[in-house]
Amino acid sequence: MDNPTSRNVLFGTASALVANALSVPPARAQTQYVRQSIAEFSKDPAKVEGFRAGVRAMKSRGAWNATSWAYQANMHGVPPGTTLRPGWATCDHGTWFFLPWHRMYVYWLEQILRQASGDPNFALPYWNYADPAQRLLPPIFRQPADSSNPLYEANRRSGINSGTRGLAFADVDVRTAFAQDAFSSTSSPYAFGGYPRAPSHASGTHGALESSPHDNVHDAIGGYMHDINKAARDPIFWLHHANVDRLWNKWLSSRTHSNPTASNWLDQRFTFFDAQRTAVTESVRQFMSTRASEYRYDTEPAPTMSMTVAESSDLSIMGDGGSGAMATQVTLARSNRLVELGARPVSIPLAPTAPMGEPPEAPRQLFLTISKIHSKTPPGSSFDVYLNLPAGTKPGPDEEVYFVGRLSFFARMAQGDSHAAHDEGPSIRAFDITALARRQADAGAWRQAPAITIVAVYPEDIVEGAGARLGGIEITRR
Ligand code: C2O
Repeated sequence: MDNPTSRNVLFGTASALVANALSVPPARAQTQYVRQSIAEFSKDPAKVEGFRAGVRAMKSRGAWNATSWAYQANMHGVPPGTTLRPGWATCDHGTWFFLPWHRMYVYWLEQILRQASGDPNFALPYWNYADPAQRLLPPIFRQPADSSNPLYEANRRSGINSGTRGLAFADVDVRTAFAQDAFSSTSSPYAFGGYPRAPSHASGTHGALESSPHDNVHDAIGGYMHDINKAARDPIFWLHHANVDRLWNKWLSSRTHSNPTASNWLDQRFTFFDAQRTAVTESVRQFMSTRASEYRYDTEPAPTMSMTVAESSDLSIMGDGGSGAMATQVTLARSNRLVELGARPVSIPLAPTAPMGEPPEAPRQLFLTISKIHSKTPPGSSFDVYLNLPAGTKPGPDEEVYFVGRLSFFARMAQGDSHAAHDEGPSIRAFDITALARRQADAGAWRQAPAITIVAVYPEDIVEGAGARLGGIEITRR
């Protein structure tokens, strides 16, 4: 077929791509691949068949073949005690490399899958769970529900595979992430893209987008997905991460948002494998320009120029989170109690350290910050956090007066349980509770001596002895 979108792809061998990337403006060097929403993608049986054929072919390859499904999944993580092969267990969580590392990971998997699928135009679809009509696991991942379907995984939560339970709004909530103007900040955990520090495998303070929706969606799927050491074995992993990558672009489309310009971010290099099984070590910078211009999402306009990082931007990497913001931060109430989480709800009173007063008016903000979040192994559930919940009530996450947000333990393994040596950091999850506090004041529920209640989202799936715990809770005003 003389399809203009496939013409240049046909000579898109690795060497041609590299040559083009070096010598020709990317937008003219090759046709862009378009990542479609899974709802659109699934309407075309030929695309679905190509996707399935690619996954099937990768799954049939031996685990030591770098283009096999198992090898690629092991690059994300492996169970403790596994002998490591090149590139294994290198996923980045809890740092400002979370977004670029996973962008690179998805990009190279897509190259391998394209070749294995036999479809020269293949591009990974993404899962747009922001759309309430798309909160159930996409049908091609659960039907047929047997091993004839390479996209099916039997170990997901049963409601997920049966299509009777989907993602909740609390899982996919991006409001806190999109309210952040800074990609990274050394002075506060409330930034979009993660804390600026060296690459780290599975610990530390997660960025706002990483916390929600990213971590919550992993937990909601369950099975492999809620275990960092196995997550990428489930084919839905890749559609989830394509969507996280798309959300990064969406955040960047605001004029006031930009990526870090620091060279220790842009020049950080990571190693993956191409479809010829050759190790490729490239920098984050390449994925902000050349590589990023090779594909786009169907929600984005076809560009006439390549998408580039705002390299001339004078915004510092610290964004608005400089020391001035720290100086005006007041801790209003706190608990330093170590709390173990399990199937039963726990209630934690916070001791006032300054007058709570009335909820602040804009531009001041109130945050609830949970710190020292760790688990030895996946606890089997995420947890809902409530403020001032009256004793005896058990509202769901849709209620408006008490629900703070959802806490996930994905990629928050305690030191000694992950492979890379790392600095655990404070492992914080922060929630903006400014609007909630105002709703509580209106409802007469705002209290001078606040209390937090934490409730397992899937109490029936709790793993006893997983060691899920947190070591501090604070309410602060900025
Ligand atoms: Cu490295 Cu969604 O995980």
